[in-house]
Amino acid sequence: MQVLADDGVVLYASVNARQRRNALLLIHGFPFSSRVWDAQTQAVEQNVVVIRPDLRGAGQSGISPGPYLMETLAADVATVLDAIGVERVSVAGHSMGGYVAMAFLRMFSERVERLALIASRLRADTPSEAKSRLELADRLERERSMDPLVESMLPRLFGSSPQDIHPETVERAADIVRNNDPLGAAAALRGMALRSSSEDIAEDVDVPVLIVAGGRDRTIPLGEARENARQFRNARLVICEDSGHLPMLEEPGRLSGALSDWLGARASG
Ligand code: MLT
Repeated sequence: MQVLADDGVVLYASVNARQRRNALLLIHGFPFSSRVWDAQTQAVEQNVVVIRPDLRGAGQSGISPGPYLMETLAADVATVLDAIGVERVSVAGHSMGGYVAMAFLRMFSERVERLALIASRLRADTPSEAKSRLELADRLERERSMDPLVESMLPRLFGSSPQDIHPETVERAADIVRNNDPLGAAAALRGMALRSSSEDIAEDVDVPVLIVAGGRDRTIPLGEARENARQFRNARLVICEDSGHLPMLEEPGRLSGALSDWLGARASG
C-alpha cells in the first residue's frame, strides 16, 4: 500500500491482512528496507497482521530533503497505521528502526502494546560518531552511490567474515542496500546524528519489552545491549550468539522464535 505523509512524501508499506486481532509493526534499520524482514513475516503472519513500512528515503518510499529526524520517521509510521486503521500495535525496530520505535513510543505511548529493540540502542551518538555519520552523508551525496555502504559498512555488520556466511545471505543484504537511494541514506544519517537519547523514558515503559542482541555485533556491543535491557522494568534479553548486527538475516529462525514468544507475552501490571 501507499499513503501520503503530512508533507506529501509517498510512504510505502507492505501489509498482510489475513486477520486483524494483533498487529505487528516491523521497522527496518539503516541502510535497509522492509525486505529485510521477509523471514520473520513468513514466520508470524498466520497469527498477526504484519505491517512493514519502508521509511522515507528507503525502499519504495519517496525521498524528501533531510535530515530525517527520528520523530519525522515515527510520525510517518503513525500515518501508515492510521491509513490501515490500526490503533495499537506491537512495535519492533532493528537498529535505526529501534531509534524510530523509541521516538514513536515517546510520541504515541498509548499506541504501543509491546516493544522490541533488535540490535539497537538507547543512547544518542557521541560527538565523534555524529561527525563520522555526517562525513559519510557528505560522501554519499557527493558520489551519488550506495557503494561506500555496500563495500565498507555492510561487511562489518555481519558477525562472521563474508566467506563464512552463506553467499545468498550476503548477496541479499547487498541487494537491499543497493536498491536504496544515496540521498535518502544521507538524510537518514543526518537524522541519526541529531537524535536524542531515549534512556529517560525506558524505566517508565510498562509493556512487554524484548531486547535482541547479536553475540558478535560490532555496532552495538553485547554489554551495551545487556545494560539497555536493565534500563527497562520488564525486558527479556535474547542473545543471538552467532549473529552480528543483522540477526534477521543471520539467525532468522532464532529471531522469529523470540518475536513469536514476545507476541504471546502479556503486560505484567
Ligand atoms: C542500523 O543498522 O540501523 C545502523 O547501524 C544504526 C546506526 O548506525 O546507529
